[in-house]
Amino acid sequence: NMPRPIIIDCDPGLDDAIALAMALRSPELDVKAITTSAGNQTPEKTLHNALGLLTLMRREDIPVAAGAGGPLMRELVIADYVHGKTGMGNTHLPTPTLKPDPRGAIELIADLLRASPQPITLVVTGPMTNIALLLAQHAELKSRIERIVFMGGGMNAGNTTPVAEFNIFVDPEAAEMVLKSGVPLTMAGLNVTHQALVLPQDIERIRQIANPVAQAVAEMLDFYLPLYLSHPRGLPGAAMHDPCTIAWLLAPQLFTGVERWVGVETKGEYTAGMTVVDYFQQTGNAANVEVLTGINREGFIDLLAERVARY
Ligand code: RIB
Ligand code: CA
Repeated sequence: NMPRPIIIDCDPGLDDAIALAMALRSPELDVKAITTSAGNQTPEKTLHNALGLLTLMRREDIPVAAGAGGPLMRELVIADYVHGKTGMGNTHLPTPTLKPDPRGAIELIADLLRASPQPITLVVTGPMTNIALLLAQHAELKSRIERIVFMGGGMNAGNTTPVAEFNIFVDPEAAEMVLKSGVPLTMAGLNVTHQALVLPQDIERIRQIANPVAQAVAEMLDFYLPLYLSHPRGLPGAAMHDPCTIAWLLAPQLFTGVERWVGVETKGEYTAGMTVVDYFQQTGNAANVEVLTGINREGFIDLLAERVARY
């Protein structure tokens, strides 16, 4: 059947890069644009990384545009301790052969939503600043958004504070606007992404794939894995946070999930950025999010390996 039109708003970032690698040779997906946010690194670096990744993946046909320089109301916090000073670990991307779209992220997305014969799915793998601005500045286009599939949050889980996940923590106000928007939402939070683990033997499997993208993915995983193996959380592999969004679009049968109300804490002194998942339906609030709760890890790894082998 027809490919699904999507736009990926990301902050590359090593796992963002792997999510792009899964998406950009998948005929099930028609990637209309890549937009970039500030998060894993500064807005300049995430844009540069996105341009380099599209060059590496030979998808210079896809427009790229940068969005907001930082969160709506807070100072930008970056995750250079995870993704390194370039945001790409030790991986050197090719010099970009394409230039960013002068419209910027919000207007590029708005133009694509207006022009598309069918609603477009937004995939968000960084802080939600750009999507909040899109919804605020172009509320009339809300119905042209098929769904927002986002990596962010968690249920009683945190990786930046004891209760907050990085993407939501960076811009809680933006996340609150998106979760209150009424747009259909699918959430890949830490509860599922911490099950989507790449184990050391999985990296060796990817390293056997003889193409430049697979080799770059293996190199990114080499940088990213030790952070997880040495973390007191005690995970046996590297969490593939952002790739879960693309995997869900390509193979939803790999996942389990529940429809629940989810809110975002924006005022808490200790809890800002926490996603409050009403798992036992105690609030009486209507569900607004499909919360992914489980994944078939082996099936996910097979999908990842199979898609990066297509370059
Ligand atoms: O908490 C994990 C998320 O924060 C991922 O999207 C990662 O790329 C970082 O942006
Ligand atoms: Ca990300």
